Amino acid sequence: MKYMPCNVIVGGFFGDEGKGKIIAYLVRKDDVKLAARGGVGPNAGHTFSINGETFKVRMLPSAAFNSNTILAIGAGVLVNPTVLLNEISIFNAHNRTFIDFQCGIITNEHIKKDSSDNFLKDKVGTTGTGTGPANSDRALRKLSIARDCPQVKDYLNDISMLIHSNLENQNNILLEGTQGTYLSLYHGGYPFVTSKDVTASSICADVGIGPKHVDEVLVVFKSYVTRVGGGPLENELDKEESHKRGWTEYGSVTGRERRSSPFNINLAKKAIRLNGGTSFALTKMDVLYPECAGITDYSKLPSSAQKFIEDIESELGLKAILIGTGAEINAIIDRRERVH
Ligand code: IMP
Ligand code: MG
Repeated sequence: MKYMPCNVIVGGFFGDEGKGKIIAYLVRKDDVKLAARGGVGPNAGHTFSINGETFKVRMLPSAAFNSNTILAIGAGVLVNPTVLLNEISIFNAHNRTFIDFQCGIITNEHIKKDSSDNFLKDKVGTTGTGTGPANSDRALRKLSIARDCPQVKDYLNDISMLIHSNLENQNNILLEGTQGTYLSLYHGGYPFVTSKDVTASSICADVGIGPKHVDEVLVVFKSYVTRVGGGPLENELDKEESHKRGWTEYGSVTGRERRSSPFNINLAKKAIRLNGGTSFALTKMDVLYPECAGITDYSKLPSSAQKFIEDIESELGLKAILIGTGAEINAIIDRRERVH
């Protein structure tokens, strides 16, 4: 029987590394059977472009566009029912979306608290989507969960069971992390972090699978670093320089301008360690080296770009198996030896 892997994909910096695009590419290329989302909740926005059309998901896995893929949201993830139902309808995913009975439910009260609390709003600079206050209620054991929420009743399932039965059936599984390593409540720059751990181990715990079942931990880095919200950013560029280099981006959930800095190898090394990374992806090489735009063959990259990548590979001791060269999901160099 053909062996099918179970891979987990996480961000190696502060979120917005381009996970959505990498995941969308893999889903289509490998025809992923089941995609499960871990992470915090609707504070994350994953973006990808297919044939000139741009899609964004905040609740569903980035596999949503692929009508063959089963979509799952793990018990550790907070659900905003309005956002979820809207995405299910946009992607016509009524019959293939499953959320765990025990997903926490975000209410308007949580959203109000998140966007009016001075510490959260002004100091931490949260996304204001209610995730921190909801996780706080969860820790106090007073948050309502999906099994008690009529709005989501059609989609309830035991996601851990669903994943395990797909593992037994030798199906190709992709676990999608959200945010990024340095937004982890435990390992990031506290208190400028999100409301739970978001490293690979937690993504697995969120969806209910143990580390033994994971084959690859793919850590996604962008070719430069961006951060939205408060907290330190080493070698941060001033706004003007960031604009000049074309590194200025805007938050996909909040629309806020992202701060930027050059690629940070020390952060990358630590992210590989914290996540147990087995390989990495490097996105937006076309922003750093415009001649890279749309290239799909490594040997066609300019030598300066190859050197940039090889320096990172030798520091990390790992291979850049996927290299993003544009927004479209096919603008990518795939250097995997075994394509599933
Ligand atoms: P919260 O997760 O909304 O509580 O926000 C806490 C911090 O994490 C803030 O600095 C946010 O800007 C940041 N953050 C949360 N989710 C994401 C994300 O998906 N991408 C980038 N930054 C995020
Ligand atoms: Mg994002």
